Amino acid sequence: MIDFKTIKATDPAIYDIYKEELDRQQVNIELIASENFVSPAVMAAMGSHLTNKYGGCYAVDKAEELARTRACQLFNADHANVQPHSGASANLAAFVAFLQPGDTILGMNLAHGGHLSHGSPVNISGKYFNVVPYCVREEDCRIDYDNVRKTALECKPKLIIAGASAYPRIIDFTWRILPVLLRQGYILVLSLMLTLLLQLRTRL
Ligand SMILES: Cc1ncc(COP(=O)(O)O)c(C=O)c1O
Repeated sequence: MIDFKTIKATDPAIYDIYKEELDRQQVNIELIASENFVSPAVMAAMGSHLTNKYGGCYAVDKAEELARTRACQLFNADHANVQPHSGASANLAAFVAFLQPGDTILGMNLAHGGHLSHGSPVNISGKYFNVVPYCVREEDCRIDYDNVRKTALECKPKLIIAGASAYPRIIDFTWRILPVLLRQGYILVLSLMLTLLLQLRTRL
């Protein structure tokens, strides 16, 4: 468990913030699907000596390898990169792996349910790449897949990022337009909450 006593003795200002955040987590209901509370075991491992910067990697590399193997098994994948700390940095890692600055990407408009890291102008993804956003239909607030496909064929993005932060529907993106887009050679990045990924996996 977290050693509050040591934190309080070392840095009372940080301790107050820790306490305030603990109170917040204990009295609020989190309704954002991508938020989560880790298990006591994860909490203990995160607050351990593994956080120290190390001169030799032979022990921690085993943890990375284990995580990679497990991710590959979970998602039926050939490769997995488990180094990014969060979704936003994972998206950036994927962009940097496949794109050059100025390349075109297609992503869901932030105001329509997308995420900052999917090409918002105030995010690095929107500053480094030429972003064409897609929107939900005005009448029913659903993704218009035909329109996404049409936009993709017109603007010819090098990469399409699918997924949303605030879209309370099953995302049928991949199944309705993926075959067409992949045939065109577009790269697809899925930026999805775990539950959605698992849902998709059952359909792979
Ligand atoms: C669809 C989607 N992509 C990316 C992110 C960014 O994830 P993180 O907050 O872990 O950086 C989120 C976060 O809510 C998200 O919902």
